[in-house]
Amino acid sequence: EVRADLCYTTREDVQRLIRPRKKFSHKGIYGHALLLCGGYGKIGAAVLAARACLRSGVGLLTIQAPQAGYIILQTAVPEAMTLTDKNRRHLSELPREIDKFDVIGVGPGLGTERVTKTAIGQLLATSHHPLVIDADAINIIAGSEKLKAQLPKKKAIFTPHPKEFERLVGKVKNDYDRLQHLREFCVEYQCYVTLKGSHTAIGTPEGKVYFNSTGNSGMATGGTGDVLTGIVTALVGQAYTLEEACLLGVYVHGLAADLALHTVGAISMTASDVIDHLPKAFLHLT
Ligand code: APR
Ligand code: MG
Repeated sequence: EVRADLCYTTREDVQRLIRPRKKFSHKGIYGHALLLCGGYGKIGAAVLAARACLRSGVGLLTIQAPQAGYIILQTAVPEAMTLTDKNRRHLSELPREIDKFDVIGVGPGLGTERVTKTAIGQLLATSHHPLVIDADAINIIAGSEKLKAQLPKKKAIFTPHPKEFERLVGKVKNDYDRLQHLREFCVEYQCYVTLKGSHTAIGTPEGKVYFNSTGNSGMATGGTGDVLTGIVTALVGQAYTLEEACLLGVYVHGLAADLALHTVGAISMTASDVIDHLPKAFLHLT
């Protein structure tokens, strides 16, 4: 049976999506992204998401981090601007001038402290930005029916791994059941979900599912998910549609890891290696 609502993403599909940069362009055209990532002991998640975001073409990047992250981020990611939270260890507030951002990526390394839950609640209640929601931001939303109820009004991409996905939709029985839940969640909450795995599945609000064709087992190492958050955030910032950002982002993330196989192999591969191969991956597609 051939089903039109199940698709497999090929290189040609994503090559058609990529828009080359224009000669008379400036950083204002490529979007200003805000990352709400990192908590005490997990500032590295913010570093990885930020570096991946910058390697994926974003025009400007600001990171809001707890005070514990300030020196680390300014040192590790000099291209990004850093705002500091009043809280030393965890995200507890949103930036004052939040309207100036084109996209917000939220979640990696945040933790689930009460103050952070409050900040995520404020984000959903007040912001009109497209959101890329990962990791602890997913966990926080999954734990609150009140927050979930706000989702249909938002432009949102969720990037869960299978455990985070189960927190969102409940226990999954098998792979087929997972796919059913993916469609139902995307349709009910009118959002996109990149359900990560060996063949990441991308669900759309219309109930369509795309399977990705890149990536390898070298990616089974901490931090590669944070890299995807940075990539997808950068693409939304550049005004790719949410669907395009999911398809292109997941593909190029896996392709960078496939290219890293040649130099570092699957055993030694780290999330930083995936970031380091993003330039080659984008070059392959243009
Ligand atoms: N083949 C292809 N791709 C893979 C494979 C595989 N065998 N294993 C993992 N990947 C890819 C996934 O598709 C996904 O894009 O690597 C990425 C892993 O992302 P996450 O599971 O989000 O991992 P990450 O966030 O980097 O690290 C684990 O998640 O559960 C939390 O608290 C936990 O902080 C920890 C974090
Ligand atoms: Mg993760």
